[in-house]
Amino acid sequence: MESVRKTVLSGIQPSGVLTLGNYLGALKQWAQMQDDYLSLYMVADLHSITVRQEPAVLRRRISETYALLLACGIDPDRSIVFVQSQVPEHTQLSWIMNCITYVGELNRMTQFKDKSAKHADNVNAGLFTYPVLMASDILLYQAHCVPVGADQKQHVELTRDVATRFNNAYGETFVVPEPYIPKFGARIMSLQEPEKKMSKSDPNPNAFLLLTDDADTVVRKLRRAVTDCEGVIAYDPENRPGVSNLLTIYSVCANMSMEDAQKHFDGLGYGALKQETADAVNAVLDPIREEYARLLTDKAYLSERMKDGAEKASAIARKTIRKVYRKVGLDCMR
Ligand code: TRP
Repeated sequence: MESVRKTVLSGIQPSGVLTLGNYLGALKQWAQMQDDYLSLYMVADLHSITVRQEPAVLRRRISETYALLLACGIDPDRSIVFVQSQVPEHTQLSWIMNCITYVGELNRMTQFKDKSAKHADNVNAGLFTYPVLMASDILLYQAHCVPVGADQKQHVELTRDVATRFNNAYGETFVVPEPYIPKFGARIMSLQEPEKKMSKSDPNPNAFLLLTDDADTVVRKLRRAVTDCEGVIAYDPENRPGVSNLLTIYSVCANMSMEDAQKHFDGLGYGALKQETADAVNAVLDPIREEYARLLTDKAYLSERMKDGAEKASAIARKTIRKVYRKVGLDCMR
């Protein structure tokens, strides 16, 4: 029943390319949550312009990222899948929440510190208030549950704080959300430096697997993956991060427990581990690559879906905006 289903919301920035880590660590969970929650998933394009973007590239990446979400099994008939900038309520709520959030709170955000160091020539106000926009994304839909990576947890905690502050000042308005950090098994590490998380911004392209890498590239990158010289296949992430990462990728893609995966490779060498991991990854990626390629040729379908998603999202968001305006003493007229 709709009324007892809780709401889940998450977002992803339109970088245009996603890694196997993004899929196994996030998108796969999003897809699995669709039946149990009222699910909203968005392309967070307003977040991405806190860093300077080339307009034509941004435009292309927004549709590519949207297509990738659908290709990963996020079903626009079961979820509301939308592009953030197409739902104007996000920026509307964001201003109001800016007036609730303290500068001191934003100063403590570690991502702001990291990003402003990285983009020292463009430390804009949007970069600073980015967590307020993210809080607004979540609060607009009264989301209970927000699946995020560990790097975004601090932003969800801030969301809880500002939602509670608003509720205390103006009366019950917002659901106070919980972060949902996917459990172990989903954390995929770099193939070249397995102590680090797999990241698409790694300067070495052999360190990551993209969802759009073709089958041969997957085989080649996994063959080059860093292991160790022990020659025994066993899960020990602390001391043997490379082999353990391959085992993790294998077990998740082959749908096998870690124990069974280790048994499976008992007595085999790293060559077999790499080849079978590549085969398991390719079995997962084949349908994604195929659907992605198909979607990119059907621009009309994509824009129809975007429009439909934006309308559905806006219908929910509008209710929150009306309520918030009324509580604050403003009149939203629509
Ligand atoms: N800030 C998130 C990231 O960079 C993306 C994001 C934007 C998001 N709005 C959100 C995630 C709301 C969860 C909920 O990864």
